[in-house]
Amino acid sequence: MSVPFDQLDGEIWMNGSFVPWKDAKIHVLTHGLHYASSVFEGERAYGGEVFKLREHTDRLIESGRILGFEIPYSADEIDAATTELLKRQGFADAYIRPIAWRGSEMMGVSAQKNRINVAIAAWVWPSYFDPEQRMKGIRLDLAQYRRPDPMTAPSRAKAAGLYMICTISKHAAEAKGYADAMMLDWRGRVAEATGANIFFVKDGAIHTPDPDCFLNGITRQTVIGLARRRGIEVIERAIMPEELSGFSECFICGTAAEVTPVAEIADWRFTPGDITRRLVEDYAAEVQPKRAAAE
Ligand SMILES: Cc1ncc(COP(=O)(O)O)c(C=O)c1O
Repeated sequence: MSVPFDQLDGEIWMNGSFVPWKDAKIHVLTHGLHYASSVFEGERAYGGEVFKLREHTDRLIESGRILGFEIPYSADEIDAATTELLKRQGFADAYIRPIAWRGSEMMGVSAQKNRINVAIAAWVWPSYFDPEQRMKGIRLDLAQYRRPDPMTAPSRAKAAGLYMICTISKHAAEAKGYADAMMLDWRGRVAEATGANIFFVKDGAIHTPDPDCFLNGITRQTVIGLARRRGIEVIERAIMPEELSGFSECFICGTAAEVTPVAEIADWRFTPGDITRRLVEDYAAEVQPKRAAAE
């Protein structure tokens, strides 16, 4: 059994100061815990630098606004705290988790007076999926739950509440021996994995769903840019599950997952090929600009 996350060593930035890791606690009567009034980010640092830090920080602030609260720190302050935290933790390559949540001042659906708390933690998290399986292509199940209509949930926010169906779906997939699950959206279109966006390849072109009811991931946007730089056509459109048999390659991407080839989704089969391999490599070079330039 690995060390639980509340027992790691080091420091966590919490509400403006660095506190010992084990002391970064909240009370059980916290609005964020009971009513999911919480937003967060997932970032990765490579060689001591957080990839697209400002874009993540801006999304965190915007996610809070979508949930109706203002994070009481500026983007500059959050970025400075993140950079200082990495230094104090002594990490070059790390995963960073900023989170903002409503506190304990009111305990009901309404939480008008609750303090907005913010914390940032960083830890070493090498590969989201089993590294051996990863390049052969991971196996995805088809999730039972669907990404909700934007009229039903604030789908542009990276909000804790939206992950309830992701954890249920991922657990169900893992129970059947899969690494993760692909979710459809409320209309029955292909949407994304439980924590990453999805791409397909057909006749040398890349096809990926329009992000109109799920996160338009920062990695997704990066990968689209990298593909276009290679002269690969990228088509963002509605994709129906029946089309999956016509795609040769498939991969998912996200900050945690990076670019991960997919070999199976339920009964559909894919073979990680040249386009996927190229984008795995291009993304690795993109996030490590100094290392890539030095090689
Ligand atoms: C549900 C979901 N979709 C997509 C993404 C990809 O987003 P990003 O590339 O900004 O990390 C993530 C990861 O944060 C996610 O959790």
